[in-house]
Amino acid sequence: MAKKFLIRTFGCQMNEHDSERLAGMLVADGMEPTEDLESADVVVLNTCCIRENADNRLYGTLGHLATTKAEKPGMQIAVTGCLSQKDREGVLDRAGWVDVVVGTHNLGSTAGLLRKAVTDGPQVEILDAPDPEGDLDPSLALNAVREASHTAWMTIQTGCDNTCAYCIVPSVRGGEVSRPIDDLVREAEVLARRGVREVTLLGQNVNSYGRDITKRSPLFAQLLREIGTVDGIERVRFTSPHPKDLRPDTVAAMAEVDAVCNQLHLPLQAGSNTVLSAMHRGYTAERYLEKLAMARDAVPDLGVTTDIIVGFPGETEADFEQTLAVAAEAEFDSAFTFIFSPRPGTQAAAMTEQFVDPDVIGDRFARLDAVVQRSGLLKHEARVGMVERVMVEGPSRRNGDVAAARTTQGKLVHYAPHDAQALQAGAIVDVKITHGAPHHLEGEQVALVEPTRVKRRLEVRS
Ligand code: SAH
Ligand code: SF4
Ligand code: F3S
Repeated sequence: MAKKFLIRTFGCQMNEHDSERLAGMLVADGMEPTEDLESADVVVLNTCCIRENADNRLYGTLGHLATTKAEKPGMQIAVTGCLSQKDREGVLDRAGWVDVVVGTHNLGSTAGLLRKAVTDGPQVEILDAPDPEGDLDPSLALNAVREASHTAWMTIQTGCDNTCAYCIVPSVRGGEVSRPIDDLVREAEVLARRGVREVTLLGQNVNSYGRDITKRSPLFAQLLREIGTVDGIERVRFTSPHPKDLRPDTVAAMAEVDAVCNQLHLPLQAGSNTVLSAMHRGYTAERYLEKLAMARDAVPDLGVTTDIIVGFPGETEADFEQTLAVAAEAEFDSAFTFIFSPRPGTQAAAMTEQFVDPDVIGDRFARLDAVVQRSGLLKHEARVGMVERVMVEGPSRRNGDVAAARTTQGKLVHYAPHDAQALQAGAIVDVKITHGAPHHLEGEQVALVEPTRVKRRLEVRS
């Protein structure tokens, strides 16, 4: 009987996509996916270490799994991803019942190491640089077992060449490596043939895509144009661009290529120039706002979201007020706000003298949230009465009779579908917005524009 595997994902979209690629690899190795821990022979934890609570969650989960494994001795546990890369053998020191530890550069080794661990005991394999044959092999992405049928993630670049003082990503993911443009276009074509209508291009710094391919000249705008004109790909999204690298050619491609969505996730991180400089972000608040204005001028009705960190070491009340002011001026549609978390080996983690008091951080976090919620709600209320062309994700999680869909800005819309076709993943529907809530919109169906052309099963192989 085929072995069953279960994958839990702890990190960002790139980490989620790595899990899909891992699943494809395990299926190719003869295993079957399961969602049920009781019946799983192999449990893979694909980890994250961006903030301390991500570490804690993983070791908490491993603690629970110790009990499960004690009752099921044949079960194997693999830990993959960023926390493995950071903690290496340390994962086994803290959780000796783990069978395989694989880092970020050699995802492709996981299936082989699981087999080896059966006879040879625990395996730890961490590389210090990407394995070009392994991790970025196009077949890994083409064979990925994707959760959604109409949308797909595409990792266009791994690693990061920046040196943000708080961030652990460069040390776990390594330097930037761009996948060849031809591989990516081919991948988009295959996905489109399988019925995927929307792709999201992933990278830590997507708009520097290609700097390592042609002598430091980014190719991101060209990539947007090429992927955006692949037959059958109706929507292209990307995350995240870095403000310092956002160039007119990228926003021009966004404006000119119909398929590229009116959506920009542009991480601000802080509004104080002192803090931005200490963070090594490479822009001032003024420059950030100029870049945003450039994007909004070029792309009408652009939805803008951001990331902001509260409590970076040395952040004063005056610094924080600047963050509030810039956030208010930027009028974000929504923001991911994070409390600064010291990460081992980063510059900011060593600035202990300047750590901000947790109560002060808590208070600032709530004040920032209020500012972002206000602009988000105003943006959503302003959409009432508009007819939006949305792509259906499927039934809403809370109520199966209600459809969940996304606007081109990436906003979630709930509406009552007129028929089963308007509830089908990938269908395109015109919806009139009737209500703007802080985190989603509500609407009523105007017309089904078209159902999905390809009725597709979850495909595993190309
Ligand atoms: N490469 C992306 C971000 C990846 S991490 C970019 O630069 O846009 C996602 C977000 O996590 C970051 O934008 C930042 O806001 C937050 N983050 C990263 N390190 C953090 C830390 N040590 N503490 C708190 N938040 C952090
Ligand atoms: Fe981290 Fe900065 Fe790179 Fe983003 S750009 S991954 S925040 S170092
Ligand atoms: Fe986490 Fe690694 Fe992504 S640290 S945020 S899973 S790149």
